Amino acid sequence: MGRALAFRARYVDVKPRLSFARLSRRQLIAASIAGWMGNGLAQQAGPPHDIARSKTAIPPLKSLARFPLGCCIARPYLREAAYETLLLQQFSQVTAEWEMKMNQVLGDDGTYRFEAPDALVDFARRAGLALHGHALIWFKHAPVGIARLDGGGAAFERAYDDHIAGLVGRYRGRLRGWDVINEPIQPDGEGLRVSLFSRNLGDEAHMARAFEVARQADPDAVLFLNDYDLEMKPEKRRAFLRLVERLLARGVPLGGLGTQSHLSLAMRPGAARQALADLAGFGLPIHVSELDISLGRHRLDGAELAGARAGQARILEEVLNAFHDLPPAQQYAITFWGLRDADSWWRKPPLNRAHDEPVLFDDGGGAKKLAETAAASLARAR
Ligand code: G3I
Repeated sequence: MGRALAFRARYVDVKPRLSFARLSRRQLIAASIAGWMGNGLAQQAGPPHDIARSKTAIPPLKSLARFPLGCCIARPYLREAAYETLLLQQFSQVTAEWEMKMNQVLGDDGTYRFEAPDALVDFARRAGLALHGHALIWFKHAPVGIARLDGGGAAFERAYDDHIAGLVGRYRGRLRGWDVINEPIQPDGEGLRVSLFSRNLGDEAHMARAFEVARQADPDAVLFLNDYDLEMKPEKRRAFLRLVERLLARGVPLGGLGTQSHLSLAMRPGAARQALADLAGFGLPIHVSELDISLGRHRLDGAELAGARAGQARILEEVLNAFHDLPPAQQYAITFWGLRDADSWWRKPPLNRAHDEPVLFDDGGGAKKLAETAAASLARAR
């Protein structure tokens, strides 16, 4: 069986078992009614978002998608039954929003805290959800536990390798893939990020090393290079593509490309389609890994808000349709970065955009018109 078919068989054709074992009969009935009523479970909980809320029922989006449809998760959210019910109803894959990152698992003394990632891995297994790991090496996170070894030569190398091998090895065979290197390119596309890791192990050498150690720890996981603004900044995309070429040329086991897709209304029409086409040129699986579409920094009302939401829907349609047009073997997943608007990083410090509506479900979990747009686009492409 060719590599592409093997990929499909392993990842795309998989029909995640939905385990309702955890849902009581009452919850199940409530979820089904609420889900098909198009009002999510928010009816009881959320404020009336009449303009944004879908007036028609939306079926479970994961049942319409021909590829894994994901959402980022974290334990604080999962404590809410309504959150879990909506998540399981709509999505077939999850990514840890922050609880698998180096600054969360590596203690100052160099010891590891796996309680949170273990809980998320166990939740995904029990719920029959596919799981994507995020993120092994990120220039932003250089916690004391490894920064204290800065300049330490072999000791630093050991700590770097142990972080990757420890985390990937611990969940070997239970995650579909990992974001191995997150955000390698400077914001303006002018070269590679500088970090504790690049200073100690080399600009590209630290990346190659991370992929090789991860490959050893889990031979089957799809190993991703992941970055943002690849749609909004063509010069950054070109720098990303050049890095991919160099890594592949040196035999790095780079297995997939992630475009975070934190989009805004400033995105030029066609930019997402162009970005996906360029990224797909290497023939590797593509992950739209952190999709959300911000309405912007200012609160809008009336016609301006309606216009912004229409622009947001157009961008979502472009992303979904362009992803559909990729060869099936390259459709790794589309992951939304937040289940409900209230869960979105755009709403939290430091951005604090209390008015923003970046994802498919409103603060109370009600399906917005944007969810209707997603359902229509996913259904059309089946
Ligand atoms: O750590 C506390 C936790 O103990 C507490 O229970 C929880 C309560 O909500 O809050 C946690 O705080 C912070 C969390 O956001 C919630 O606000 C975490 O410390 C903080 O690290 C976390 O920030 C995350 C950020 O990455 C840094 O890891 C954001 O949630 C997450 O959305 C953001 O995601 C990044 C991607 O990884 C990479 N691409 C950009 C994207 C947005 O910045």
